[in-house]
Amino acid sequence: MLNIIGYISRVAGPLVEAASVAEAQMLEMVEVGDDHLIGEIVRLSGKKITMQVYEDTTSLRPGLPVYGSGMPLAVELGPGLIGTIYDGIQRPLDVIRLASGSYIQKGIHAPALDRKKRWHFKPQVKAGDNVAPGAVMGTVPETALVEHRVLVPHPLCGRVVSIVDESECTLDDIIAVITMNGREKPVYLYQRWPVRQGRLFRSRDRLTEPLITGQRVIDTLFPVVKGGAVAVPGGFGTGKTIVQHQLAKWCDADIIIFIGCGERGNEMTDVLLSFPKIIDPRSGRSLMERTILIANTSNMPVAAREASIYTGITCAEYYRDMGYHVAVMADSTSRWAEALRELSGRMEELPADEGFPAYLPTRLAEFYERAGAVETLSGQHGSVTIIGSISPPGGDFAEPVTQHTKRCVRCFWALDKDLANARHYPSISWIESYSEYREEIGDWWCAHIDPDWRVMQQEIMGLLQQEERLKQVVKLVGPDVLQDNQKVLLETCLIFRTTFLQQSSFDAIDMFSVPQKQARMLRIILGFHKQCLEAIKSGMTLEHIRKSRLRSDVLKMKWAIGNAELEKFDALRREVEAFAREGSV
Ligand SMILES: Nc1ncnc2c1ncn2[C@@H]1O[C@H](COP(=O)(O)OP(=O)(O)OP(=O)(O)O)[C@@H](O)[C@H]1O
Ligand SMILES: [Mg+2]
Repeated sequence: MLNIIGYISRVAGPLVEAASVAEAQMLEMVEVGDDHLIGEIVRLSGKKITMQVYEDTTSLRPGLPVYGSGMPLAVELGPGLIGTIYDGIQRPLDVIRLASGSYIQKGIHAPALDRKKRWHFKPQVKAGDNVAPGAVMGTVPETALVEHRVLVPHPLCGRVVSIVDESECTLDDIIAVITMNGREKPVYLYQRWPVRQGRLFRSRDRLTEPLITGQRVIDTLFPVVKGGAVAVPGGFGTGKTIVQHQLAKWCDADIIIFIGCGERGNEMTDVLLSFPKIIDPRSGRSLMERTILIANTSNMPVAAREASIYTGITCAEYYRDMGYHVAVMADSTSRWAEALRELSGRMEELPADEGFPAYLPTRLAEFYERAGAVETLSGQHGSVTIIGSISPPGGDFAEPVTQHTKRCVRCFWALDKDLANARHYPSISWIESYSEYREEIGDWWCAHIDPDWRVMQQEIMGLLQQEERLKQVVKLVGPDVLQDNQKVLLETCLIFRTTFLQQSSFDAIDMFSVPQKQARMLRIILGFHKQCLEAIKSGMTLEHIRKSRLRSDVLKMKWAIGNAELEKFDALRREVEAFAREGSV
């Protein structure tokens, strides 16, 4: 219920103050002015409240009423989330467009989930059963890819008095009644959850299963786990958005949540146009059937940008609680931090590093802390993986957002300007990046893909590091001082970089490599390295190696051999293994 709690006394951009307020809570959702603009209370001082308003505040003036809701800002969680495009405070953009045209009218309200749509509900409990929060009441086929599990909302627990039979239900229909402490409570297909509060779970699981992304440099050198947190920092135009898009398209999560946070509108348009057309290779269905998009582009109100990250992560946790693996892409967290800075500046808080508020590290930590693999309240296992991009001004990683994020994540894909300039994409630097998950998921790769994965991976990392040192030597004294085996090493690293690390996101065969293809390619390159060393020892020249057909086959393998033609890699490997012996091929 909305009651007038006070009247506006001051308006400063997205921040609005009201005086003489009798009753209000911190983080309470409010509606401001005659247009009922949505906002949130961010400061209470005596009888004065400060609110951040999620819409354009130009029409507001002192004297207009403020309505309190008595509840924190919350999102609606239920069937219909998948495939929808929301703004930062979970208003469905296509519904809003129908109501107000291409430009969003002020104060327009639209329920996040369609109230009229009928869903086929199939109960899983019966009258008389005892249920606890998080238990599965029944299921709804949300899309062809996602079975929506209707969960008992927290903190409801008790005996099921009644539950509907298998039938078509709308979100407004009561699907079950539960008694709790002698009172009957209705259960609907959807529930609400405050965005700033993490959803509850039973315990955290160890992170052991990789999130396969199909991007070779990521999966093989800097892997991420299901439930992990990754930062992708990179200067202007280094490929952050493309990396995020590639992951959203190809990673093996069940659900994808893409938060376009303060980025350019046309990048979001790209997602909107391309995602529905892309067919998920695992299921053969459109990608939108497992995706939720949250769009808060650079021209949309800044306060809503701050909220968009929380809206996204709360939806992610909801699907995690059903036992799904969810991946959240936030592009870019720098724009979100800038929104924090702007709001904090207007609140006249004491600025810390580069004008960011002193609580920036806490906010970042709170956000990345919401990643993780968990045992849910009903005993299922699900995870939320967060991949957040950072756009440091001038590409300087010493700035506060990158530095504070570094402390919250265990995987860091540093995008390198020089690589991007040389059109080496993805421009993930193999020198500056790291993944502390490599050890944990080594067992999975060794058990499922290749027993030698750990050894091969260490070998190639070793070669890349030696290459870096040798390059310094060459820079100082020229290439003539290098011994033959060092020249071979440089040659191998060149092959590895161009064949393996570079991966086009626009080539139909190359855009995605299954783990088996990655391991085979790595084995072939390392095998070729050993063969070249032997061949050089027995008198073959480097020139001869460079001109060999086999070398050009190795260089071409990523384009020439598809994910389903693994036997061709095995044939190539056999040829490589005979190289030194047979000489001139
Ligand atoms: N994997 C890739 N394959 C081919 N081209 C790529 C790849 N990654 C990036 N590019 C090229 O780099 C360009 C810039 O990439 P992108 O828009 O992702 O950069 P960004 O870091 O998000 O930039 P901004 O800082 O402006 O947000 C793309 O338009 C594309 O041409
Ligand atoms: Mg970008």
